[in-house]
Amino acid sequence: MTRNSGGGWPRANVVDLAAPAVTQQWRRARPPFVLINMAMTADGKIATANRAVSSFGSRRDVAHLYELRATVDAVMCGARTAAAGEVHLDAGGPRYQRQRLKRGLAEFNLRVVVSGSGSLPATLPLFQKRFSPIIVLTTRRAGRRGLRRLAAAADEVVICGERHLDLAAALRWLTARWGVRRLLCEGGGELNAAMFKAGLVDELHLTICPLVFGGQEAPTIASGEGAKVLADATRLELQRCRRVGDELFCVFAVRPRKVSEAGDCPAPARRLSSRARKQ
Ligand SMILES: NC(=O)c1ccc[n+]([C@@H]2O[C@H](COP(=O)([O-])OP(=O)(O)OC[C@H]3O[C@@H](n4cnc5c(N)ncnc54)[C@H](OP(=O)(O)O)[C@@H]3O)[C@@H](O)[C@H]2O)c1
Repeated sequence: MTRNSGGGWPRANVVDLAAPAVTQQWRRARPPFVLINMAMTADGKIATANRAVSSFGSRRDVAHLYELRATVDAVMCGARTAAAGEVHLDAGGPRYQRQRLKRGLAEFNLRVVVSGSGSLPATLPLFQKRFSPIIVLTTRRAGRRGLRRLAAAADEVVICGERHLDLAAALRWLTARWGVRRLLCEGGGELNAAMFKAGLVDELHLTICPLVFGGQEAPTIASGEGAKVLADATRLELQRCRRVGDELFCVFAVRPRKVSEAGDCPAPARRLSSRARKQ
């Protein structure tokens, strides 16, 4: 893990990863170790069907979220999660900032938002607090006006594809450009699904909360198109599980896919290294 600069970062700019002017050295970077952290109800929902409730974990669960943030270089979420109320992706206060510094990390984590369409509103609360750089990952679909608007709001806007956002490329860029070695993805379901599908997730932290929301339309931890056959499922290995009150805190390692199963996977699924298992 390396320090990213807490202040004095470059001025807002737009980087097109495919542009000839951008040296392609970043392609050689190793993608970061990726954790996903989610709270879900006993019926697998991460919000109510009307999206009015998405924060329902206990104080212990909130502390768990900040403890995890205190171990990573960057925290990432999808556009709809970023737009769901007072989302700042912050470090959690002085106690966690001290933990970060002790670990040799920057005092504040980088903040990364994924918006393929680039329609992320520049008025979001996220953009109002400037304690650490905000990076928006997008595609050419954002168009000139969208890019200009985002560039004014964020510290860096990265174009990672024409219509489809190449998450594997984006993560390599974050490592090469911003020193991201460990990244926490905090949903929502659409972004998680794309991350699993691309074989980019190493670990899943799941808090199972004692609630049932129901609702066909209520989001789950991974949405998108979903697996059509069992072979397409992401396979997990339960590493540990702890009960605190009526909540279960589970940690799963993502099992590497067999070569024959990784057909449409843009990035080869990584083996779980001993380093990864220890983290
Ligand atoms: N319980 C929990 O732990 C938890 C955690 C996080 C979120 N939530 C809740 O979950 C809900 C949001 O989840 P969600 O699944 O609806 O949305 P989401 O994944 O947060 O965001 C979806 C949006 O992100 C962008 N995006 C995601 N993956 C992309 C990809 N591969 N390529 C390009 N763009 C991509 C797209 O933005 P554009 O439309 O701009 O292209 C897409 O519309 C909210 O209610 C939130 O509060 C709950």
